[in-house]
Amino acid sequence: MAKSQKPAAEKAGNPKIESARGKLGVMIPGMGAVATTFVAGVEAVRRGLASPIGSLTQMGTIRLGKRTEGRFPKIKEFVPLAALDDLVFTGWDPFDDDMYTAARKAGVLERDLLDQVKPFLSSVEPRPAVFDRNYVKKLDGHHVKKGKNKMELAEQVRADIRDFKKSSGASRLITMWCGSTEIFLEPTAAHQSVKAFEKAMQQNDEAVAPSMIYAYASLMEGVPFANGAPNLTVDLPVMHELSRKNEAPICGKDFKTGQTLMKTILAPGFKARLLGLNGWFSTNILGNRDGEVLDDPGSFKTKEESKLSVLEHILQPDLYPELYDKFSHVVRINYYPPRGDNKEGWDNIDIFGWLGYPMQIKVDFLCRDSILAAPIVLDLVLFLDLAKRTSELSGRGIQEWLSFYFKSPMTVPGLYPEHDLFIQLMKLKNTLRHLKGEELITHLGLEYYD
Ligand SMILES: NC(=O)c1ccc[n+]([C@@H]2O[C@H](COP(=O)([O-])OP(=O)(O)OC[C@H]3O[C@@H](n4cnc5c(N)ncnc54)[C@H](O)[C@@H]3O)[C@@H](O)[C@H]2O)c1
Repeated sequence: MAKSQKPAAEKAGNPKIESARGKLGVMIPGMGAVATTFVAGVEAVRRGLASPIGSLTQMGTIRLGKRTEGRFPKIKEFVPLAALDDLVFTGWDPFDDDMYTAARKAGVLERDLLDQVKPFLSSVEPRPAVFDRNYVKKLDGHHVKKGKNKMELAEQVRADIRDFKKSSGASRLITMWCGSTEIFLEPTAAHQSVKAFEKAMQQNDEAVAPSMIYAYASLMEGVPFANGAPNLTVDLPVMHELSRKNEAPICGKDFKTGQTLMKTILAPGFKARLLGLNGWFSTNILGNRDGEVLDDPGSFKTKEESKLSVLEHILQPDLYPELYDKFSHVVRINYYPPRGDNKEGWDNIDIFGWLGYPMQIKVDFLCRDSILAAPIVLDLVLFLDLAKRTSELSGRGIQEWLSFYFKSPMTVPGLYPEHDLFIQLMKLKNTLRHLKGEELITHLGLEYYD
């Protein structure tokens, strides 16, 4: 190995990042298709049965210094990340299926692979959930916690967290929401401060959704929280306050997979070449439980808001009114059981070029939702843990550098989110370079011609 490619751990003096030694406990509210595909996948990779394809932390490299220096370490060698062997798991779900049974029902991974990791998967059983049908109308699970108010439920989740830490021997924890999409909610007075939120929980205020109870409990325990759904959950002043105060980083919302991933790849290309847009019609058919939940108008509205915001932000109609003013953007999700987790996303894109001449692009993406989401979950777990161990990041609250993974990235209030996948990747990698005292890469490159 060249001297410059030494693993990060071997490099001298990096006082800012604590070591990743010890077990990392991953706690997952929502043990459905995404969660089981992620956990089964980690175990399959650990046992050498499959490769972690799609995961930046496992397969990605990072260029350091000038192109001529030839320094391209793997990301996992450049920054100290938890090893896959050190991950331990627990979760919550309103259905009491263990992870093997839940994975079989989700129908994402083949039985042959699942059977090879069966003893491990069967050992992960859900804890009773904080669940309320008013927030996810299409589900009716009975494996749920009982309490006289929402504060009591939060206390029970906190007790679960402490119990898991002790019983698993984990030195650090992460909470990763892989639960269903809740009904559309907007911030209210109850979300504006910790004090107001705690009072609202005592009073069983309907502004407090179950996902917020897990988030509150995690942040109170100093545990980072990532939100894979478009729910409001941590995108609230109360959670920002708790996250900063308790040095428990947060990020979200809504994993960027499938159709929105394609949008954030294609739209920056149109803008780069100054091609105009008249309209973008997107429709999906999917048949998994997520699709069933999204069949409810309340849950769909939450998803729709998340999916719609992407194009406006990338195309910047304010700066390019001639190209992007008033384009029509329609998103549909249709629940169609025969497809299971294998979604089909169709896009019809009406663009225009030189002298205004119209053209059309059709994209038909036959994708697998949970296969695209699982590596995102893994990367978020490892990067959030890195953030927690990094003095410069742990007290900052929102981790905007993780926008790369989300349809609706979180930012501080007043700052517009960055949706362009390539800018997001540069932001992520430059953050890692910055943490390790490496030069940021600007791609200027004039010095090669001096
Ligand atoms: N798969 C993707 O590509 C993708 C992309 C973006 C976002 N998401 C979001 O990720 C989430 C998970 O997706 P999925 O395909 O695994 O869905 P899923 O329906 O298979 O799993 C969700 C699980 O959450 C459980 N749940 C619901 N409310 C809960 C609560 N209050 N506490 C604990 N568990 C609860 C459900 O019982 C279910 O087992 C969904 O919100 C989905 O919208 C998925």
